[in-house]
Amino acid sequence: MICSIYNEIIILTLLLHFISVGAQNYYLDRFNYDITVQRSDGFTDYQPEDWEQIQCDEKSSLESCLAYTDKWETGRDWAIKTNYCQWCPEGGDPSLCNGNRHHQSPINLERVVGYEPDTHYLTNECIDIHWMKYEDSVCSLEQLIDADAFSIERHSLRISQPVAIYDNINQDIDGVPDGVRLQCREKGIGSRFGRIDFSKGFSQWWYLSHTDVKTPSEHTQDGKRYDAEIQLHHFYSVTAEEAGTNNEVATVSIFAQAYNDAVPYPFLDKVICQWRRKEYNVRKECGLDPVESTYPGCFPLKRSKRNLRNEQQQRSISSPTNSKKDIDFLTAQDVILYNDQHRNNPNHTNVKIHMDEGNWAPAEEKDWDTWIKEQSNEMTEKEDIYHRMRNEYHGGNHTEELHREFRKLYQYEELEWFNYWPMLGVRTEYYFRYSGSQTIPPCYGNFIDMSRVGTNHWRVMKDPIRIHSRQLLELQRLSAERIAPIGSTVNACQSDTAAKVTRDPMDPGKIVDVNNARPLMSWAKPHFKTFCECKDWESKWPEDRNWCAIEDINERFYDKPYNYGW
Ligand SMILES: *[C@@H]1O[C@H](CO)[C@@H](O)[C@H](O)[C@H]1NC(C)=O
Ligand SMILES: *[C@@H]1O[C@H](CO)[C@@H](O)[C@H](O)[C@H]1NC(C)=O
Repeated sequence: MICSIYNEIIILTLLLHFISVGAQNYYLDRFNYDITVQRSDGFTDYQPEDWEQIQCDEKSSLESCLAYTDKWETGRDWAIKTNYCQWCPEGGDPSLCNGNRHHQSPINLERVVGYEPDTHYLTNECIDIHWMKYEDSVCSLEQLIDADAFSIERHSLRISQPVAIYDNINQDIDGVPDGVRLQCREKGIGSRFGRIDFSKGFSQWWYLSHTDVKTPSEHTQDGKRYDAEIQLHHFYSVTAEEAGTNNEVATVSIFAQAYNDAVPYPFLDKVICQWRRKEYNVRKECGLDPVESTYPGCFPLKRSKRNLRNEQQQRSISSPTNSKKDIDFLTAQDVILYNDQHRNNPNHTNVKIHMDEGNWAPAEEKDWDTWIKEQSNEMTEKEDIYHRMRNEYHGGNHTEELHREFRKLYQYEELEWFNYWPMLGVRTEYYFRYSGSQTIPPCYGNFIDMSRVGTNHWRVMKDPIRIHSRQLLELQRLSAERIAPIGSTVNACQSDTAAKVTRDPMDPGKIVDVNNARPLMSWAKPHFKTFCECKDWESKWPEDRNWCAIEDINERFYDKPYNYGW
């Protein structure tokens, strides 16, 4: 029985892939972070100022199909009412932007909103009262690799929580899948999404859809822009019955700042190696040589497992073509957006996100305080060792033994995979909270007057993860040197990134900067900006507790803004 369900899923997946590969003449406009480009194929790549012009309904008229969201096939059927992008730049003319009544993202986040209410024009009380508890998804690193979950998108480096489409074949008359489920399964647990527990206003968990890494950060904090931003995108399901019918999305964002003498953030090296593997595979399929640069700890590639999704695509070329199916979902969020696009269509039935029982189970029984303390101690210990060895090295100790010790620090094989890996490195529970939109078209974030319903709920952690400069350079290089995979409708096997890449004019091979951040939007009242910190609840992180011991709020906010001493 289980076997036959899986066969059906596989067959459907094959058919869907055929359709998306086959429909090559549609929706070829895209977006970028530089300037609007009229391509030689007659289509356009739009700059951020023009994202709001995007509309697309290729079924009624190809002429009006101005854009599509890069790899996101479900972005078809765009109409102006389902494109939420507005151009409301910081410092721009408010009258151009809905009378400045908007909540576009990203924005500049300010600590001043954390002051006591009514003492400042900006103040908003933090309504949250506890930390965000987070539990891992059942997706192991191996399952993610097999599902081709590490991808280099035009607009970000991405880790998907891969979903599989399921359908009731017997009653399949509408050409639309009945639902998706998390592709990863674990014996005895089933397919359980990663989940995080937001405070106040949300009685249930949020579930992890995918993670995007951008350079530099999209948000700024009191005017400071960080080197990178890691965004954990979530969706909300109220009950098992209603799963997939709720359109709420939320993002937990984590800044990263690069230093020459920081300990390389071990989890980041682990994911960098996977994006390098992806790059290697794409280049290989395209008949291109591997990149010349190496990265410590990544090569040689230990697993040479073939890439499942590409394999399916190749096999699907010889599949029958009589399916009406024309949509594909790579992540749970694709389903949310698809349902939202069709909400006014009386014939539309929502595609469901199937949630196995395990998703509704009560929180893990775990001593969270101890767990956090252990994480903190472990990281501190590693940092101490790293700095000691580094000092020795710069003090002239170049012994073979020291090199061996260094290499040991870079061996991440034994580092257990954790889909909430960025949450550990920030070592804080405190964050900025506000209502906004997503930062890529269609800038999802329904704007209903002063309501927060249907917005993108943001939680941006106050402290950056400290990463090593070479990690930042590699993130930038991976984006800048992106090659469009072999099946791409545009620029297949050619250089293709949405990022603005700045190169050294004297040495064009040298990348100076890579920017795939949407420009800052002006903030307005409907953003409900808030800063949650010490006074709102007591943190489990020892670092936070030390920081909170600084009683003078001005000193805490501005003289010593982070909970670490750099
Ligand atoms: C809904 O379906 C009916 C019956 O197939 C059809 O006549 C009608 O045009 C459809 N409406 C829309 C908005 O697609
Ligand atoms: C050099 O490094 C090795 C390995 O870490 C260590 O055992 C030794 O004490 C170091 N020597 C000096 C002079 O620091």
